[in-house]
Amino acid sequence: MDSQHIDLHRSIISLSCALDLVGVDEVKHGKRVAMMAWHIANKLDWPAEDRLSILYAGMLHDCGVAKVREHRQLTESLEWDGAEAHCLRGAEYLAACPPLAYLADEIRYHHTRWEHLLTLPLSPRVRLRTNLLFLADRIDVLQVPFLNSEQILVAAPKIVERLQSYSGSLFAPELMAAFVDLAKSQAFWLAMDPDYLDEDLRELGRDLADIELEYPALREIARLFSRVVDAKSPYTEQHSERVAQIARRLAADMGIAGCELEQVEIAGLLHDLGKLRVSEDIIDKPGSLTPEERACMQRHSYDTFRLLRRVFTDSKIPEWAGLHHENLRGEGYPFKTLGKSLPLECRVISVADIFQALAQSRPYRQGMPLADIIRHLQQRVAEGVLDGAVVATLMSRADDYYELAQGFCPMD
Ligand SMILES: [Fe+2]
Ligand SMILES: [Fe+2]
Ligand SMILES: [Fe+2]
Repeated sequence: MDSQHIDLHRSIISLSCALDLVGVDEVKHGKRVAMMAWHIANKLDWPAEDRLSILYAGMLHDCGVAKVREHRQLTESLEWDGAEAHCLRGAEYLAACPPLAYLADEIRYHHTRWEHLLTLPLSPRVRLRTNLLFLADRIDVLQVPFLNSEQILVAAPKIVERLQSYSGSLFAPELMAAFVDLAKSQAFWLAMDPDYLDEDLRELGRDLADIELEYPALREIARLFSRVVDAKSPYTEQHSERVAQIARRLAADMGIAGCELEQVEIAGLLHDLGKLRVSEDIIDKPGSLTPEERACMQRHSYDTFRLLRRVFTDSKIPEWAGLHHENLRGEGYPFKTLGKSLPLECRVISVADIFQALAQSRPYRQGMPLADIIRHLQQRVAEGVLDGAVVATLMSRADDYYELAQGFCPMD
């Protein structure tokens, strides 16, 4: 089997959940933007295909924001000079991901004023779609203080009035007119309740069939998210990508073949997805972590597991990715799975993760030379924590693996 069925709709919702973790204070921002944009598109009678595309663009529009700090600034004022960076980054990520590349332009200009959009060589459809994202995004920023409370109904006319003053400058008049009309209904605002939001989003995907994605396409979606995770800190640059490469190669050297190899690579790319929730202040902290900070850091592998389980309903990927901090003595986390029940693929990903992390500099230490890493790994094997066979396989081509860990050209 060279492909895997995935529910793309559900996958995008889950990936949006992963991105939500960055907001911390404003969880579900992407989903609210998506849903409001969908309602406005619906009001304007856009074709079903365009409505779906705005829904997905809405959920993913902030994929270029990896830092809590950046997110905070984006939600504090209507226009912010630094907004351009995350638009560019997000568009670049999406453009590199064939199954979602058609959304790149929408993401690219989602903080660009309408009057400026009119001067850019964009198709009228893209121009309107990207501006609709901008509008929905700004509605959300203004409604956040009143969320989950009926106070939003009191505040709504003021929000509308404020945004309306930017019709023609920041926002397309036709989008503004549709929004002003919709905003008169209480339902538009009350539908933003987190429970209703999830229900509505699920419902919109109810009649959509699963799609079958070949592994290369699936890998690109995984890579998109690994880039968002790794961008959280300069210290983890390309960490997930390199772990995935090492794990795939190690798995092959251990005799794993076929689609399992593809899945090991995808699990490697996504193993730290849950780190989106961890603040960069903790990831970048030079000293040792307090118990609270360590607890925050440690929950990431469980979050990875839960997020991936929603995307891959019938696959080992969530388990292989989510168990990367378990160890053979059952002293890892989050499940305390004992050695004999830890699949080989998990052990491979654990070794790849540790090996790459030690080769890379961290805020509290420099990247280690190969000889020191090997000593460290052997020590862990002697303690009964790491799998001796996996470490031995790695050591048999240690120089090649070390190059891979540092991002040099892949081994053949
Ligand atoms: Fe946003
Ligand atoms: Fe991890
Ligand atoms: Fe990792």
